[in-house]
Amino acid sequence: MKIKISPNVSSIQPYPPGKPLEELERQYGIKNAVKLASNENPWGPSPKAVRAIRAELLNLHRYPDALCHSLVTALAEKMGLDPGEIVLGNGSNEVIDFLVKAFVTEGDEVITSYPSFLMYQKFVQARGGINYIVPLKNMKHDLAVIRETVSEKTRLIFLDNPNNPTGTAIAPVDLYQFLSDLPETLIVVLDEAYVDFMDKQLRVDFYSLIRNAEGRCPVVFLRTLSKVYGLAGLRIGFGMMAREIAACLHKVRQPFNINQMAQVGALAALADEEHYQNTVQRTGKGMEFLLAEVARLGCRPYPSHTNFFLIDVGGSADALYDAMLMKGVIVRSMSAYGFQNLIRINVGTDEENGRFLKALAECLTELHYV
Ligand SMILES: Cc1ncc(COP(=O)(O)O)c(C=O)c1O
Repeated sequence: MKIKISPNVSSIQPYPPGKPLEELERQYGIKNAVKLASNENPWGPSPKAVRAIRAELLNLHRYPDALCHSLVTALAEKMGLDPGEIVLGNGSNEVIDFLVKAFVTEGDEVITSYPSFLMYQKFVQARGGINYIVPLKNMKHDLAVIRETVSEKTRLIFLDNPNNPTGTAIAPVDLYQFLSDLPETLIVVLDEAYVDFMDKQLRVDFYSLIRNAEGRCPVVFLRTLSKVYGLAGLRIGFGMMAREIAACLHKVRQPFNINQMAQVGALAALADEEHYQNTVQRTGKGMEFLLAEVARLGCRPYPSHTNFFLIDVGGSADALYDAMLMKGVIVRSMSAYGFQNLIRINVGTDEENGRFLKALAECLTELHYV
C-alpha cells in the first residue's frame, strides 16, 4: 500500500486481549472451557441490568442521550460529586484515551509503570508523547523513581491502584506523600478499576483529592463497571475529576460515546446492591480458597487486592498456558510482561475454581514443575 502510516502508530504493538471463549473452543476443539484470563466477574451481570437492557431494546432506533443525564446524575449522587465532575467512557479505557488526547501533544512526557495496564502506553504512543516507563519495585509502583522522572514536560502520571497484573496496592500514606510532592502542572491518574475488591483502609479519599486541589497537582480517578458490576461486554466506565479537567475531556469525545444499552444497564447495575455485595463477598472467599490451594500444589501465589492474582508455577508459564488450554482452562501467561514463570488468573465460580485446580495439578505433574 502507498499510504503513509504515522510513525507514532506503526510502532505500537497491538494490545494482547484474552481470546474470546468461543474462538478458543473452536480453535482447540474444547467444550465448556473455563476462562480465568481477563479478570471478569464469573457470576455474570447484575440481573437488574439485564432486565433494564431488555426493556430498552425497542428504542434501538433512537440515538442515545449524548449527555447521559440519568446515568451521570445517579453516579454523581452515589459518589457525592457534581455531575460536572464525572466523564463517562466506552469502558474506562476510553477515558484514558480522552486524558491523553486532551493533555498530551508531540514531545510531552507521560510516566507509567511496568508491568501495569498496557493501554496507557499505547494511547501515549499514538499521540507522539514520550512515555517514561518505571519498573515496579517489589511488584509495586516505585513512587520514588517516578518522582525523580518528573520533569517540566510531564503531563500525566498513570498509576493503577491496585496494579494490574500484580494486584498490589499503594499504602495511602505513601500516596498522599507522593501527591503532595508533585508540581501542580501535571495530572496524576489513579486507575481504580479494582477498588471495590480492595480493603477499605487502603482506599484514598477521592472526594478531597478532587475538590481540594489548591496548591497540589490535580488527581483524576478512573472507575469501571467491567469488573465488580459484571458489565465488561457493555463497555462502560467513568472518570471523576475537577470540572475544569472534565470540560477538556468533553471536548475530545464524540457525542454518542455511551450507547443506550450501556446507559440503562449501568444505571440499573449501580442500584443493584445485592449483586455488588455478593460479588465482593464471593470474590474474597474464592481468593482465600485459591491462594491456599495453589500453595498446597507447590506453586507460589502472590497475594492481591483485586479479583485476580499471580502464580509462580515454577516453570515456563507459556508451556503451562498451552497445557491448561488443552484441558479447557484458560489462564493468562505473564511472559509478555517479562515474567517467564508467572501466570495470572481471576477468581472464578466454585465450579470453575475446582476445574482450574484439577487441571493445574495435572499440568504441574505432566510438565515436571513440582
Ligand atoms: C487497571 C485497568 N484499568 C482499566 C481497565 C479497562 O477497563 P474497561 O473495561 O472499563 O475499559 C482494565 C481492564 O482490565 C484494567 O485492568
